[in-house]
Amino acid sequence: METQNMKAVLCTKYGEPEVLKMSEVTKPFPKHNEVCIKIHATAVTMSDIFIRSSDLPLRYKIPMRLVLGIRKPRRAILGLVLAGVVESTGKNCSDFKVGDKVYGITGFGMGCYAEYKCMKENDSTYGCLALMPKNVSFEEAGSLAYGGLLALQYIEHGNIKKGDHVAIYGASSNSGTLAIQLANNFGAHVTAICSSKNHKLVKELGADVVMDYQVQDEIPAGVQFDFVLDAVGNIKTSKLKEACKKALVSDGKYTSIDDGDLKLVAHRLDKIREFTEAGVLKAILDRTYPLDEIVEAHRYVQNGHKKGGVAISVL
Ligand SMILES: NC(=O)c1ccc[n+]([C@@H]2O[C@H](COP(=O)([O-])OP(=O)(O)OC[C@H]3O[C@@H](n4cnc5c(N)ncnc54)[C@H](OP(=O)(O)O)[C@@H]3O)[C@@H](O)[C@H]2O)c1
Repeated sequence: METQNMKAVLCTKYGEPEVLKMSEVTKPFPKHNEVCIKIHATAVTMSDIFIRSSDLPLRYKIPMRLVLGIRKPRRAILGLVLAGVVESTGKNCSDFKVGDKVYGITGFGMGCYAEYKCMKENDSTYGCLALMPKNVSFEEAGSLAYGGLLALQYIEHGNIKKGDHVAIYGASSNSGTLAIQLANNFGAHVTAICSSKNHKLVKELGADVVMDYQVQDEIPAGVQFDFVLDAVGNIKTSKLKEACKKALVSDGKYTSIDDGDLKLVAHRLDKIREFTEAGVLKAILDRTYPLDEIVEAHRYVQNGHKKGGVAISVL
């Protein structure tokens, strides 16, 4: 069979955003149990920044390098978020058909900074895939796949009941903006913690109370939480984050989105689609860049202050 080429961004060494280079590589062909997706949008997440830069505390850096490659990324095409259209299917595939609009995550399988990606149609350690919500753009779908999977998995730890007091720490992150909406939908009283410039946004998403981690160090006397969700991960912290933990009721629960591994499961993508189509979840997109401006997108996300997601259009 004649091989075809595709555009892709290659990362041949760890380092600053400039290590990412536009290139031409061979277009992948699906195996029997794989679908080939024409990617319309991917995303730059904080995970991509950690993977590309490898700039992490040793306790994270060593296991990460063992998985990704000791001296350079073993898989040169980074990117773990995709939204696109099924272009072809392997002969054993039955869940998706050509033309389906899909969204998903490839995890350490990566490969989404490209025009095409082949992946198993069923859940695996290299990803999960589902039909994308009908009422969103490809860019929004990518943001919902990453932030939504994180938000839904970890908010489930809280077993939220109507009237519970829930704090979302890092409320302006991708998963934070979605976690507010989920907690609100479960009937919680939501305290959203982020810097003041994002207070208007998080209130619009359903926060009842807002706090600024850059200004406040303490939780007001008498305020207690049934559940605290850290939606920015362990590295980003503050005195207020520590104060949140101390403000839990006696059987209250604290969870960070860094506790354990993100589960790559299509059933949660299905749930996110249902919530989105029902108007419960709305994707927040900070910026969208074309694929050939991926270096600028990485610089922006690396600053650590994006709100919601940053999308990459791949058309
Ligand atoms: N468990 C897993 O397997 C797994 C998998 C993937 C990702 N993750 C975690 O998920 C995170 C997701 O990142 P993301 O891309 O959604 O978000 P992000 O880009 O890390 O978050 C950006 C937000 O962080 C806020 N922020 C910055 N410093 C802060 C601080 N000290 N305290 C509170 N908020 C702060 C910023 O708000 P302001 O502008 O208001 O400061 C900004 O809106 C990753 O960093 C990783 O830790 C976990």
